[in-house]
Amino acid sequence: MAINLNKLIYPLFVKKGRYLREEILSMPGVYRVSPDMLLDEALSLQRLGIRQVLLFGVPDKKDWQGKSSYADKNIVAESIKLLKKSFPGITVIADVCLCAYTSHGHCGVIKDKKKGIDSRLTLNALSRIALSYAARGADYVAPSAMAKGQVRAIRKALDKNGFRKTKILGYSAKFASSFYGPFRDIAKSSPRFGDRRAYQLDYTDRKTALQRIEDDIKQGADIVMVKPALGYLDIIKEARRKFKWPLAAYNVSGEYAMVKNGAKNHAWLEKDIVFEIINSINRAGADFIITYHAKDIAKWVNN
Ligand code: PBG
Repeated sequence: MAINLNKLIYPLFVKKGRYLREEILSMPGVYRVSPDMLLDEALSLQRLGIRQVLLFGVPDKKDWQGKSSYADKNIVAESIKLLKKSFPGITVIADVCLCAYTSHGHCGVIKDKKKGIDSRLTLNALSRIALSYAARGADYVAPSAMAKGQVRAIRKALDKNGFRKTKILGYSAKFASSFYGPFRDIAKSSPRFGDRRAYQLDYTDRKTALQRIEDDIKQGADIVMVKPALGYLDIIKEARRKFKWPLAAYNVSGEYAMVKNGAKNHAWLEKDIVFEIINSINRAGADFIITYHAKDIAKWVNN
């Protein structure tokens, strides 16, 4: 089955600097780029026929509350503006989370270590980030903190401030997964203590996953998501059946690294492996697939 490039979303990582293009050791073929190089990247994506990107920031400053996430000079905010100006045809989705900006590496604001994440402060911070990205022209904001009520809070803040047209991609069913390991190398966002199991989903728990998807739809998400993809094809399929709603699946960093490592000794198989994987996610029912393989897929499809 042919792969429809319109379904693919390519993740991009931006960092301050010039002429910067750092390859990530655990993710061959994935780079952190400075804003100038981001434009090169966008041009090559446009030529390849990839029209949707998901932006992540690798900030140079972290603090306990993650304040640089909504600062005027935030690297993602600047990059969105630049991208939309030069490539209005590219759909820009901006990840909204605190983990790359907090010195403790958790996805929310922590006041008291014993009590964990403070829900009200976290929803405030996430709303501020979303507003800042919307003001720069993001087409979608994508809250990935798994804070309860994040979609509703962000939708409300956007509507109140004149951003009715900015859409929301909810990371609705995000499981606490070991497959995020390489991503945390890229974004330097590993938790400094504890883990994310207090807010991400237990991988044995399909019921809560489906509930969270339903919640996100009710709260106003334009697209809902299941993440990771490969170990969760059953959840994707169930969500597809149960909800007539645009559905994305995130083929995450560890899934990519696994293929890349395997292909080291069997390079000739990489294309077939990737096609098989992407088709399985497609078959399960995803309308959109976020994948680090997107550029390679486009090259193979175009040839
Ligand atoms: C931030 C976030 C994560 C990913 C996307 N957004 C990491 C995490 O929750 O630790 C993972 C993406 C990937 O592994 O490719 N909350």
